[in-house]
Amino acid sequence: MPIRLSVQIDAFTYSDGTTALADIHLDVAKGEFTGILGANGSGKTTLLKVMDGLIKDFTGRVLLDGADVRQLHPRDIYRKVGLVFQNPDDQLFAHSVFEDVAFGPRNMGFAEDVVKPRVAAALASVEMAEYAGKNIHALSFGQKKRVCIAGLLAMGHEILLLDEPTAGLDPMGEYRMMELLTRLNQEQQVTIVMATHSVDLVPLFLHRLHILSKGRLVRGGTPEEVFTAPEELANVKLRLPHIAELIYRLKHDDRLPFTKIPLTVGEARRELVAALRKAD
Ligand SMILES: Nc1ncnc2c1ncn2[C@@H]1O[C@H](COP(=O)(O)OP(=O)(O)O)[C@@H](O)[C@H]1O
Ligand SMILES: [Mg+2]
Repeated sequence: MPIRLSVQIDAFTYSDGTTALADIHLDVAKGEFTGILGANGSGKTTLLKVMDGLIKDFTGRVLLDGADVRQLHPRDIYRKVGLVFQNPDDQLFAHSVFEDVAFGPRNMGFAEDVVKPRVAAALASVEMAEYAGKNIHALSFGQKKRVCIAGLLAMGHEILLLDEPTAGLDPMGEYRMMELLTRLNQEQQVTIVMATHSVDLVPLFLHRLHILSKGRLVRGGTPEEVFTAPEELANVKLRLPHIAELIYRLKHDDRLPFTKIPLTVGEARRELVAALRKAD
């Protein structure tokens, strides 16, 4: 698959002297569903802002479909890439859901007869079609997050950057948000990069993940490649998914014969049943 975003950040330092990112190299291929996993303060939000062209004074280069983001007109970035902020209240500003989602396409110069179906399709994609006329302030936190995503989809974004899209949601809301993103990725071919610190959800949904620690990428690969040992994750202030931690302990401390460390309940169940049958 072609590379859509190619990120090389030698260093980025905030004006107060905090070096938030260093030695980052990261490619995002078309159609990928990628996670940036890191503890608080590891640089996730800063990295997404660089990828979206909001932070420009870094050393290195970011290429969007081969073009240097710093040389592109903002319009040409925003036609392809959009960032969903962690807090939807930082993103939403119009009165009604419809008006908010319509803002982007209107701003891009689309006529009203094009804007309307675009907004309707975007709201349908995030399962918010029936809320078009609703006041933004009357929405739940999770609904606001969906409206933010719809706003970017309505502009025709092919690459979505999401800053902790599951933060602040209840467990079912987290799961539904990940299902929504999976659907956009699979059915609408949206390339997705999401920042998260939620290790339990990641292995169920993401193709690839990159672990960020103190502004540096320390590991990358499939969830199976990245989630191997609890100690390594503890070093970067993360942990294994709970289910993986349990099997890891059973294997290493109790010497039960597991061949791999499963990351999901389904895989763990299969491994456990196989191990119990062997013990019979
Ligand atoms: N506007 C800012 N000015 C100075 N330092 C900042 C600013 N924003 C973030 N930082 C610092 O940069 C580092 C990375 O922050 P951030 O990208 O927000 O991490 P994360 O999103 O992973 O929690 C932290 O040390 C944070 O304190
Ligand atoms: Mg952040």
